[in-house]
Amino acid sequence: MINVIVISDDEKKISPLFKSSGISFHIQGSMQKKRSPMPDSHELSHYAIAFLDLDVDDWQETLLELRQQMPVIAFSMPDIKTAVEAMRLGAYDFLEKPLTNEALNQAISRCNEKSLTHEYGFDEIVGASPPMLKVFGLIRKAAVSESNVLITGESGAGKEPVARAIHKWSPRKEKPFMTINCSAIPDTLLESELFGFEKGAFTGANYTKKGILEMADGGTVFFDEIGDVSPLFQTKILRVIQEGEVMRIGGMRYMKVDVRIIAATNKNLTASCLRGTFRLDLFYRLNVINIHLSPLRERKEDIPLLVRHFMKKYAPKRKDILIKGITDDAMNLLMHYSYPGNVRELENFIERAISLANGPEILPSDLPAFMLESTPPKKTTIPRLKEAIRDVEKEIISSALDKSGGNISRAAEALGVYRQQLQRKIKKLKIAT
Ligand SMILES: Nc1ncnc2c1ncn2[C@@H]1O[C@H](COP(=O)(O)OP(=O)(O)OP(=O)(O)O)[C@@H](O)[C@H]1O
Ligand SMILES: [Mg+2]
Repeated sequence: MINVIVISDDEKKISPLFKSSGISFHIQGSMQKKRSPMPDSHELSHYAIAFLDLDVDDWQETLLELRQQMPVIAFSMPDIKTAVEAMRLGAYDFLEKPLTNEALNQAISRCNEKSLTHEYGFDEIVGASPPMLKVFGLIRKAAVSESNVLITGESGAGKEPVARAIHKWSPRKEKPFMTINCSAIPDTLLESELFGFEKGAFTGANYTKKGILEMADGGTVFFDEIGDVSPLFQTKILRVIQEGEVMRIGGMRYMKVDVRIIAATNKNLTASCLRGTFRLDLFYRLNVINIHLSPLRERKEDIPLLVRHFMKKYAPKRKDILIKGITDDAMNLLMHYSYPGNVRELENFIERAISLANGPEILPSDLPAFMLESTPPKKTTIPRLKEAIRDVEKEIISSALDKSGGNISRAAEALGVYRQQLQRKIKKLKIAT
């Protein structure tokens, strides 16, 4: 059975309801009333779901804090404005008072369904390797903070989905997420894209155009390939970050803009700073939170999961046959390749293999010929996909438990999953604790 924490100042009414619903719960008053201080993150890890009464004074802060650790179900008297605000701040669900046993239990099962589908990743980002679990933890942290984020990692490692996930889970999620690819765009074009222009600002400016920064007001701007920006433009971006204002080309006044900046690069910006090609002050402003994506060759345990993910994505494109799996030999080839192009390269292999396949399974011959040459498959066959995933999971969980000295809460924290989720896994995989 799962444990939930309930934050409400109306214990008299709320407690009996949770009791009669058969839910294992702990109720506690609001933080501001100081009747009982908010549990720290370690104590919170005992709970799988939080129920938050929006009648408590400081519900916004409480919600932001709780949702870093678990899904939060908000409840209050029927009020659209409050419900919208709670969802915008990241509540997972909203229930109207008076609560009923049925509504409580339904909300809990909706939550459980969702966490099960997210077992191997975060949103669209697939991965269960220790480096990816660390990335998921950082995405959660970055989402609730307003700080700028710098995402680093080799080409094709998945920087863009990480940026999208941060925005999607942030309180800015209802506002625009705008991306600008800084590489290969000349400065003049970059300037009009970012800042916009007034009619008549230059020859050909026959209309007024809003820039990306202005359009993204209240939301997030993703500067992809920031390492390729010219020194002059770096100064302009720094100004936006420092002053929080922009002026259209040919404009007369600065406009305040409230944007959160996420930048990505496959370059080593520290080295660029040392060489003097990247401004150190801009680097510091961007690199408040750093999320690094390891190359795929360093997290091979993610390969079977990614293969399954991309097969699901591309298999429906074949209308003539139903592609259900991949042979052990083909999987073996994929496991032993070095992926200079990272996840993007693996995705291309699967898309191509699916369009070439003649039967229900992907064969080695559906993979590029150079893979056969460069990495001769080992004679030993590798386990089926399901077993491979199970073994990887077992290994990761056992090693986390070893490191935590058998402490499940600490292991769950290190793995970036809820304690309850980990307990379920331990039971299912029959791991000795
Ligand atoms: N962990 C992942 N799970 C699912 N899809 C992924 C993952 N990582 C990357 N992808 C997919 O792989 C492709 C390449 O990723 P992406 O475009 O983010 O690379 P990048 O790191 O931005 O590279 P570049 O520096 O070349 O722009 C995308 O289609 C992306 O959706
Ligand atoms: Mg990219």
